[in-house]
Amino acid sequence: MAYISEISKFLSKEVLLKGWIFNIRSSGSIFFLQFRDGTGTIQVIAAKNDVSKEVFKACEKLSIESSVEIKGKVVKQPKAPTGYELQLSDLKIIQVSPRYPIGKKSHGTEFLMNHRHLWLRSSRQRAILRIRDAVIWAARQFFKKEGFVLTDSPVLTPTACEGTTTLFETDYFDQPAYLSQSGQLYIEATAAALGKVYDFGPTFRAEKSKTRKHLMEFWMLDAECAFVEHEENLKIQENMVSYIVKYVLENNKKDLKTLKRETKRLEKIKAPFHRKKYEEVIDDLNKKGFKIKFGHDFGAEEETAISEDVDKPVFVTHWPKNTKPFYMKQDPENKKLVLNSDLIAPEGYGEIIGGSQREDDYEILKANMEKAKITIKDYQWYLDLRKYGTFPHSGFGLGIERTIAWICGLDHIRETIPFPRMLNRLRP
Ligand code: 4AD
Ligand code: MG
Repeated sequence: MAYISEISKFLSKEVLLKGWIFNIRSSGSIFFLQFRDGTGTIQVIAAKNDVSKEVFKACEKLSIESSVEIKGKVVKQPKAPTGYELQLSDLKIIQVSPRYPIGKKSHGTEFLMNHRHLWLRSSRQRAILRIRDAVIWAARQFFKKEGFVLTDSPVLTPTACEGTTTLFETDYFDQPAYLSQSGQLYIEATAAALGKVYDFGPTFRAEKSKTRKHLMEFWMLDAECAFVEHEENLKIQENMVSYIVKYVLENNKKDLKTLKRETKRLEKIKAPFHRKKYEEVIDDLNKKGFKIKFGHDFGAEEETAISEDVDKPVFVTHWPKNTKPFYMKQDPENKKLVLNSDLIAPEGYGEIIGGSQREDDYEILKANMEKAKITIKDYQWYLDLRKYGTFPHSGFGLGIERTIAWICGLDHIRETIPFPRMLNRLRP
């Protein structure tokens, strides 16, 4: 059996392909079948005069998404996207599909989301999923190349990482457990064991937000480095994002074209990125007519305004301490601020990374926890990291789906993951 992705190897030869009928055109005496096998799409030609009666009859039975095995000769076709087409010699129907619910006409979002399991077969969804694969692969390659070790964090946890208001609770043999919001706290421990580490896994936020940027379940890539301070932390992030974008530009040209993504904008994504202190951003926004007070978080409109005049992502750094979680290191030059960064993607895609240097002073961290009304006993292990050989360290978490939405130029995050979990959607 062969695959369409490697069809060029079989020029003038007969191949066996297995897959689905994507589209059918017929002039009466000749069938043009668009056939896909997961690796690509190819046109298959079946002329009444060239195939057996049985094969031509089988062609007449076909419907969209029927599953088939086909045999045919590979010939050059300069007009075809792959450069090749297939002259059919044999066709075996596995199943004739009844009328396929997803057609060429445009469907509403609800309808498509209810048929997500089938919608995934469309060319656009396939392109997005291939880019998702490329983004994850590139990130892993980047970390490997930079000497990071993968140390995955647990999904079931007894405590919050980002805050208690957005936890999904479950029962863990008669004690409450929560689905992880981020693996960060755990990789701070593995960073003390291995130096440079990362994790990659599903994370959960019970956020009652119905925006185009929020999922209840999303995949996060957390990285943590021992003896890395704030500025170097930013450098790792901008190098990683540049690496990912370059990888997708080089390896997913066809997919970006399917999505009609303007690649010129992506070509400009090269380190260094812009850096702006929170306070400066507040001033800029107010000059632009926003009425935002020091100490407030940015909404979607503010995030769009921050990135609209620039062609690269922007790090917003040095946020007020009371707006951020307990673990961020306070700025030695201004105790009201923390050494952190939110990376805002261009074109209104919003925050794709949250990161910071971590508080490495036992007493300050403990005081932060007490102020945040955190049960110290649950986090004693975390405090231990500041007791047994504390070390300056920094890290960040990249939201994979937001990154994909930006790179693909999508209107909504729901298309970036095979089966999105959203406020009103747990199915399919
Ligand atoms: O900024 P966040 O909340 O940071 C953390 O969780 C840190 N503990 C990470 C760390 O330092 N290791 O989340 C990180 C990123 C965000 O920048 C965003 O890209 C993504 O995760 N994210 C979401 N993506 C989709 N849906 C949501 N509801 C998201 N919440 C955060
Ligand atoms: Mg954040």
